[in-house]
Amino acid sequence: MQKKIAVLPGDGIGPEVVEQGIKVLKAVGERFSVKFNYEYADIGAVAIDNTDNPLPDSTIDTCLGADAILMGAIGDPKYDNNPNATVRPEQGLLKLRKSLGLFANIRPITTYKSLAHISPLKEEKVQDVDFVVFRELTGGIYFGEKGRKDDGDTAFDICSYSKSEIDRIARLAFESARQRSKRLTLVDKANVLETSRLWRDTVGKIAEDYTDVKVEYMFVDNAAMQIIMNPKQFDVILTENMFGDIITDEASMITGSIGLLPSASIGTSSALFEPIHGSYPQAKGKGIANPIATILSVAMLLDSLSLVDAGIAVREATEKVLNNGIMTPDLNETHHYTTAYVGDMIVSAIKNEESEGFKPENISVGMSTII
Ligand code: IPM
Ligand code: MG
Repeated sequence: MQKKIAVLPGDGIGPEVVEQGIKVLKAVGERFSVKFNYEYADIGAVAIDNTDNPLPDSTIDTCLGADAILMGAIGDPKYDNNPNATVRPEQGLLKLRKSLGLFANIRPITTYKSLAHISPLKEEKVQDVDFVVFRELTGGIYFGEKGRKDDGDTAFDICSYSKSEIDRIARLAFESARQRSKRLTLVDKANVLETSRLWRDTVGKIAEDYTDVKVEYMFVDNAAMQIIMNPKQFDVILTENMFGDIITDEASMITGSIGLLPSASIGTSSALFEPIHGSYPQAKGKGIANPIATILSVAMLLDSLSLVDAGIAVREATEKVLNNGIMTPDLNETHHYTTAYVGDMIVSAIKNEESEGFKPENISVGMSTII
């Protein structure tokens, strides 16, 4: 079997974490007899530097011609701190999501037993947390009309949603709930926003087709609190673009590090996989970035290609490596390993090669790769 993967490393730590993801794909390809062909393309600040365009047409073509897309991260402080910048790396990502019709962003929040102690929440609150956020990705305030008026003294960003935009992602979320614990929470601000009221109407109607799924409605401010107070209560969260962006960064802290959280962005004919974290420019090239969010994004990519056993192998290898204390400094400040070493160890675990690195006695004495 052959599969074509578009690879978009992007900015900051993007290239180094994507490199680990590709190593993992290669290992999986060998073990499960799949030949992955890779086509690299630019997006974000690197694309602006090379072509003055954060998303060149050639990148869109590469993505359209691929079976799946693996992305790193985009963003560069030279644009963040310049309110007058007319082109921004983020525009590239938003345009890519829109051009490929990637309307559903799926962000699973799962915790590892071996990391429960590093969560800022109490251990008993985070053990066994397992929920998934369905974030709408191509509508809402991100894509509404925006601008300035009154000589620049007033700015506006319009939030707009249509029934069909809500319907298509809501159905995916209900299908997922049906496969899981059959609970779905719509997170909105229906006490204030008209768009949220349309979400409630639409979701309420779809719920009639999914009577086996228990639906709950929660205001986003309350949800922000509940995610910290009792994260175990959630199974599937469905929400609009901006709320989903915010609550998934919040939810990542349950697991201990944003460096652990993968995502899948699904459309009708394309699928893109990327860590939920940003480009972390301060860490670029230092070998301290956590590659696990990208590696778990690779696992989601494999699922989407129906290579389910390969996805399981990647997740099991990742857990094994974490259980052996092999992790980057965001997870362990005193004994840590490089980005590449964590990637290498996950690769050996996929290949089932007994590695010296897995012997716990090596972890405390320090290996050459500890930085
Ligand atoms: C994300 C990011 C993006 C978003 C940025 C980089 C535009 O924060 O994927 O969560 O806001 O969607
Ligand atoms: Mg975000």
